[in-house]
Amino acid sequence: MSKIPLSKCFVNAEVEEAALRAIRSGQYILGKESAAFEAELAAHTGTAQCVLGSSWTMITYLLHQLQGIGPGDEIIAPSHTAFPTMEPLVHLGARPVFADIDDTFGMDLHHVESLITPRTVGIIGVHLYGHPLDNDRLLAIAQQHKLWVIEDCAQAQGAKYKGRTVGSMGDFGAFSFFPSKNLTVLGDGGCITTHKTDYADRLRMLRNHGRQGKYDHEFTGYNVRFNEINAAIGRVMLKHLDAFNANRRTIAARYTKRLAGIVQTPIVRDWATPVYHMYVIRAERRDDLQKFLKEKHIETGVHYPKPNHQQPAVVGLFPYIPKLPHTEQAVKEILSLPIHGEMTLDAADRVADAIAEFYGKK
Ligand SMILES: Cc1ncc(COP(=O)(O)O)c(C=O)c1O
Repeated sequence: MSKIPLSKCFVNAEVEEAALRAIRSGQYILGKESAAFEAELAAHTGTAQCVLGSSWTMITYLLHQLQGIGPGDEIIAPSHTAFPTMEPLVHLGARPVFADIDDTFGMDLHHVESLITPRTVGIIGVHLYGHPLDNDRLLAIAQQHKLWVIEDCAQAQGAKYKGRTVGSMGDFGAFSFFPSKNLTVLGDGGCITTHKTDYADRLRMLRNHGRQGKYDHEFTGYNVRFNEINAAIGRVMLKHLDAFNANRRTIAARYTKRLAGIVQTPIVRDWATPVYHMYVIRAERRDDLQKFLKEKHIETGVHYPKPNHQQPAVVGLFPYIPKLPHTEQAVKEILSLPIHGEMTLDAADRVADAIAEFYGKK
């Protein structure tokens, strides 16, 4: 029986050709491919600017520096997200303040509002698993309290909120191209999207040793640059992104139809066009189910088994560990099923059959 992977990177002759084109160009860093990729990403997102960097984590770190984040600042973010969401701000001495989740696994915006203090400077809204947050409400809260908003779109490239693409509504959008993501570059990479051209200009300098011209350094910066081979590959991937996201929705619809009444399937708000970076169910006897599926050569995942507010790296930063009951309950029940841009309905049926068998519902 063939293995059904949790996710899969798309590679075809077009992708290989693009990599060869970049190799043969003789230019390897921040050249024509990177500039074109930035323009195409900005157009796809619907922003004036896009700035590439070596990963979500590093380009967001640079953005936080430009925002002037530092000790004493509080930034509200969900605990139920990938650990990197709050890493850059911690490096700058700021403090993450963790919000609980609602039934979509997204940040609970009532809770967010209750966490705002005079020290709060911004909110990182994570469109987790590819389901957008209620951006209108999020932005209204931010505006009322004069806070900035970064949309963490690492898992949501191409997702839409009321027809608008995520990463175009907050002050900034932050994306990752890590190989498991909806849009990959077959390596590490990330970008910031924004309408703020002044920030984009400074971010471009900061990622490249603070320079304008070759030997004119206006401030001390970093090397958080982007490679031409990855950009050339990413440009091909971007052409296929909408079709792959549509296929993810087809697979998700099949799962939801087959699994309703057997497990808790994902809850989707009517404002959302999700992109199912993950298809996450809530399951009784989750660990046993995961083992059963593994025996049937079906790969699954738990994203994430330990919430960030309980991570050893973070607990020492606070006088007390917050209680986030919905997050703490969810991590015991969640299971990510296989899904990717090229997955077939037959494969989805095999997964659904196995889950039905496990619960004696076949
Ligand atoms: C929600 C979220 N934010 C941030 C990141 C960090 O992305 P990168 O690995 O490109 O730094 C990831 C990827 O793991 C993610 O899933």
